[in-house]
Amino acid sequence: MRTETPPVIRLADYRPSDYLIDRVDLDVRLHPTETRITATLALRPNPAGEAGAPLVLDGDDLTLLAVALDGQPTAPGAIETGPRGLTLHQPPGRPFVLSLETQVNPSANTKLMGLYRSNGVYCTQCEADGFRRITYFLDRPDVLAVYTTRIEADRTEAPVLLGNGNPVESGAAGADRHYAVWHDPHPKPAYLFALVGGRLGRIGSSFTTMEGRAVEVAVYVEPGKEDRAPYALDAVRRAMAWDERAFGRAYDLDVFNVVAVSDFNMGAMENKGLNIFNDKYVLASPDTATDTDYANIEAIIAHEYFHNWSGNRVTCRDWFQLCLKEGLTVFRDQEFSSDERSRPVHRIAEVRTLRARQFPEDAGPLAHPVRPQAYREINNFYTATVYEKGAEIVRMLRTLLGPETFRAGMDLFFARCDGTAATVEDFLAAFAQVSGRDLTAFARWYAQAGTPVVSVSGRHDPLARTYTLDFHQSLPVVATEASAGAEPQPLVIPVALGLVAPGGGAVAARSEQVRDGVFVLEQESGRVVYTDVAEAPVPSLFRGFSAPVKLAHALDAGQRLTLLARDSDPFNRWQAAQGLALDVLTARARAGAPLEDEAGADGAALAEALGSFLDAEAVADPAFAALVLTIPGDQEVAQEIGANVDPDAIHRARRTLRRHLGRALAPRLVALRERLADPTEAPFSPDAASAGRRALRNAALDLVAAADPETGTRLAEAQCAGATNMTDRLAALATLALLPGEARERALQAFAQTYRAEPLVLDKWFSLQAMIPEAGTVERVRGLMRHEGFSLGNPNRVRSLVGSFSLNNPTQFHREDGAGYDLVAETVLALDARNPQVAARLLTAFSTWRMVEAKRRARAEAALRAIAASPGLSPDVGDIVGRSLA
Ligand code: ARG
Ligand code: ZN
Repeated sequence: MRTETPPVIRLADYRPSDYLIDRVDLDVRLHPTETRITATLALRPNPAGEAGAPLVLDGDDLTLLAVALDGQPTAPGAIETGPRGLTLHQPPGRPFVLSLETQVNPSANTKLMGLYRSNGVYCTQCEADGFRRITYFLDRPDVLAVYTTRIEADRTEAPVLLGNGNPVESGAAGADRHYAVWHDPHPKPAYLFALVGGRLGRIGSSFTTMEGRAVEVAVYVEPGKEDRAPYALDAVRRAMAWDERAFGRAYDLDVFNVVAVSDFNMGAMENKGLNIFNDKYVLASPDTATDTDYANIEAIIAHEYFHNWSGNRVTCRDWFQLCLKEGLTVFRDQEFSSDERSRPVHRIAEVRTLRARQFPEDAGPLAHPVRPQAYREINNFYTATVYEKGAEIVRMLRTLLGPETFRAGMDLFFARCDGTAATVEDFLAAFAQVSGRDLTAFARWYAQAGTPVVSVSGRHDPLARTYTLDFHQSLPVVATEASAGAEPQPLVIPVALGLVAPGGGAVAARSEQVRDGVFVLEQESGRVVYTDVAEAPVPSLFRGFSAPVKLAHALDAGQRLTLLARDSDPFNRWQAAQGLALDVLTARARAGAPLEDEAGADGAALAEALGSFLDAEAVADPAFAALVLTIPGDQEVAQEIGANVDPDAIHRARRTLRRHLGRALAPRLVALRERLADPTEAPFSPDAASAGRRALRNAALDLVAAADPETGTRLAEAQCAGATNMTDRLAALATLALLPGEARERALQAFAQTYRAEPLVLDKWFSLQAMIPEAGTVERVRGLMRHEGFSLGNPNRVRSLVGSFSLNNPTQFHREDGAGYDLVAETVLALDARNPQVAARLLTAFSTWRMVEAKRRARAEAALRAIAASPGLSPDVGDIVGRSLA
């Protein structure tokens, strides 16, 4: 059996549904292997559709037990079922009721789409197309219905029964069984359907909305883990309050439930009133979660909650519009985190993710516009481009329009599109209307793939006292299946900028082309002229990373040092340090970077600048200082080099620079570590300031160890054993993981022993080991795949071990002999039979294969071709492998 690649679906071919469904009544009788679902669908012909067309309902992996039309059995031949669904050949030309009884096996559902069991808990995942694995349906986001769901289950097996909307009634159903009825008054597409049944612990509290509605908020977790849920519960309440303040959006049901499950394909899901989460993004205690975990929980809880408006009240017409809800909601959660924490620090984190994940995606064979023009498997388009670049587009819109007009546009969008399935055009139309601007050219951001490059050159004229900046944008031509492939048109690029005097301070210069600190580059080229500039300034460009572009601007080291020391924009101060380090790293890596090599004069200048920076500011803003101390990662250097990349040379260059920085800064770093230590009796707090101190202490430890492995081992061993929280323990273990020797193995063993009953903590242990940049790691990972705590069935385990290896261990994944590629390829194939979505995601690690040097490139291609030739590939993996090789 050889699966053919699934057919292409094109945005241009969108047609409204021929039928609509107004009401759905579900009766779900939960059973581990034979769950029965009765669905009663109130249908009617869609005036916008084709009259008299057959009714084609989607279905996947269903057993049909019974069907009735308006309460009567259907005539023989009237209905046909196949592997992709059910067809009713001659539906009535008026409203009618179709009742369907289906049976599914939740225990055998290893794809984790539709209804499945996770640790014995029944749960669902319907986005993007899982509802068709529960009953036959018009499983498309532009069919909105009001749902009433009756859930029935064994009382002991599933004492908790949750659905969308508000609880209506509950009671006994015979001796051993019970039921609950839920009603959701808000019309929604099927992808937002959810139910949960199981033994679960609960913590709750209430929230009164600005409209005066009292909402019961609850978080459900594995019994016994309730003490790890308060942070998530608090994050829900903070998100609710923030959305009222920042966007005027109030919650609209009487209950809001969050349920944590251990087996989940993605991060979480915004089902109406019943968000279902990967437990990694709910459970937190000081001993099991790091500061990063806390920050992720806060962000993802907020993200899913914010979807209640951006996604649920206003949903997407079709899956091409995915960015309409995801990009917008990521923007909203980023704003929330920035307000709750430190805005500059959060901005830097956002940009690091964008550059590490989205830029490479946009530069490789999987590149696609934020709104793709075609897809074969929609689940493969939940990408960094749709999410992260999608959020950047919304942010640029705010920069262009200003915060007040932006807010007015958001209000109009929500008001006008409430209860509808909308498009990117609907979104932009709201902003065009409130601003009176033509956003046609801006809309190209949604249609053109690839990262634009903006080159800038500056000239000072001492006689005329002017400073001129010339801008030029160049756009890559991206010809992939998901992209139109047309000649790219100029983008509308907001450039936030300012001038810094070489001796410090802002330059009081003016320019007619700059408004509120922003120049808008609308054509291929543009010019900004500042007047009244006495002395040659240093331009600070793309402040706050005002557009998702690559900046080509020849700053010399001296200018970068000025920006690092003196720019008023924190992002560009950090960027200046990154730029200095990147110059050193790319130059060394290109030269092959022998390990004994010293960092040279440029490295010394960087060390000196970082030293003065630390002296002046580390204690005032440790979180920011930790970021300034962290040099660009392997992937970023690889991106900069672009072609014929040798991951080993990059790695050696990074090691040399880190060693050099560590040596030069060691006395300061050791002193800082002491100065920033929490008093031992202080209770752990996950707040941003405390997390920032820990981040800087641990960044310091990392550099000290890079310079002096002996001291590093001693310090890290002590910190790992004595830490009172997971952040410090794990950071120390990560430092040790880079120092081969007995101490490392001892610490790893002790850690595994301590946390043997904690799957989410063992994930961190898997992941650290998978990232060890040594030749033995492939074997180590193979060994760990046989560890009793590992399972191919659990997505978190797979991502922690094999995902970390493929994404975060460039030297070993790209091993010259191909052993790294083989490990990942084998895992993809083994997993594909069970969980195609996670397998396809894992396979995307190969998407940068064309960038590496010839020998490795040939090995990677061979591994991809072997996958492509394997029998019985899922559509998911077939799609990724096909596009990767195209
Ligand atoms: N909508 C979810 C979110 O908030 C993602 C769900 C995607 N699931 C999937 N199977 N493709 O980001
Ligand atoms: Zn989302």
